[in-house]
Amino acid sequence: MKYNFCGNSGLQLPEISLGLWHNFGDVDDFKMATSMILHAFDKGITHFDLANNYGPPPGSAETNFGKVLSKELKGHRDELIISSKAGHLMWNGPYGDGGSRKYIMASIDQSLKRTGLEYFDIFYSHRYDPQTPIEETMQALIDIVRQGKALYIGISKYPPEKLIQAYDILKSQHVPCLIYQDKYSMLVRNPEAEHMGINEKYGVGFIAFSPLAQGVLTNKYLKGIPEASRAHKSHGFLQESEITPGVIKKVAALNDLAGKRGQTLAEMALAWLLHNKHVTSVIVGTSSLKQLKDNLKAKDNAQFSDEELRIIEDILAQ
Ligand SMILES: NC(=O)c1ccc[n+]([C@@H]2O[C@H](COP(=O)([O-])OP(=O)(O)OC[C@H]3O[C@@H](n4cnc5c(N)ncnc54)[C@H](OP(=O)(O)O)[C@@H]3O)[C@@H](O)[C@H]2O)c1
Repeated sequence: MKYNFCGNSGLQLPEISLGLWHNFGDVDDFKMATSMILHAFDKGITHFDLANNYGPPPGSAETNFGKVLSKELKGHRDELIISSKAGHLMWNGPYGDGGSRKYIMASIDQSLKRTGLEYFDIFYSHRYDPQTPIEETMQALIDIVRQGKALYIGISKYPPEKLIQAYDILKSQHVPCLIYQDKYSMLVRNPEAEHMGINEKYGVGFIAFSPLAQGVLTNKYLKGIPEASRAHKSHGFLQESEITPGVIKKVAALNDLAGKRGQTLAEMALAWLLHNKHVTSVIVGTSSLKQLKDNLKAKDNAQFSDEELRIIEDILAQ
């Protein structure tokens, strides 16, 4: 595994991290979840990405990760970077969602309890909340670090102008933002326009989520929607309506190119992200050991010729 320094910090993250949004909740197979976590760690994935609401039910991914941590991973805490987040709906009433100090402080305490951790390595504001002054959200994050409940702060899904404001507030209080997390893949290129430049300027790392567009950037949807797929699952966030003929045409062309490179499409789509100098780490989500093993192979060929990069751009522009 290659480890990249996260922005200007002294913290190194594995170029591939494992995310527990889907596949690690109480609705999922705990044995498989455990074996994916352990295989990941054996292969050098030291970073595991959680959030308060991951499951379903919400909270169960943290609880399940905590079980593995207290048993199979006991004694390895200092080899791990564990992140969690607060920002989306978690409990009823006005204090269970958003960016208020009330919600964030209660949420981190709940997450620490569920995982059995004394502290998180990274704690994120999970989304920008336009109803809460940004100063309030940032102050809560700063205080979390000062209280020793997290070592570093992360930001996720903020509009560019709010990101700059957040970075300035955090920097002014000597708790600089470590990392920015956003959706980024061959099919979703939004962070390239502004976020990546801002991160570079402020020395903040970038970690990509949904790098396979929730599984669309694999060969699995080329012949329809399989039963064992996120698009088919009732609790999956991928909607069948997102898998349009236009998307599948691009995916089929990318799949052909991947074949010529001797890779699966999943490997090539991840390799394309690893090849980007702005990307510190890529968070994969997997529903089987086979997928995890496939995705780890992306590292073996993350070089692209200029011609291959041009072909990819042409396919994506169609
Ligand atoms: N900050 C945020 O707001 C936010 C939002 C979303 C995600 N995240 C983080 O990012 C992580 C990854 O997101 P994601 O799960 O959407 O990532 P993804 O890698 O784009 O999609 C993962 C899904 O793709 C399918 N898949 C993965 N590898 C495959 C392979 N080799 N061959 C075929 N299918 C494969 C599996 O779905 P099937 O069920 O179809 O097998 C898997 O569950 C999350 O776990 C979470 O930690 C953060």
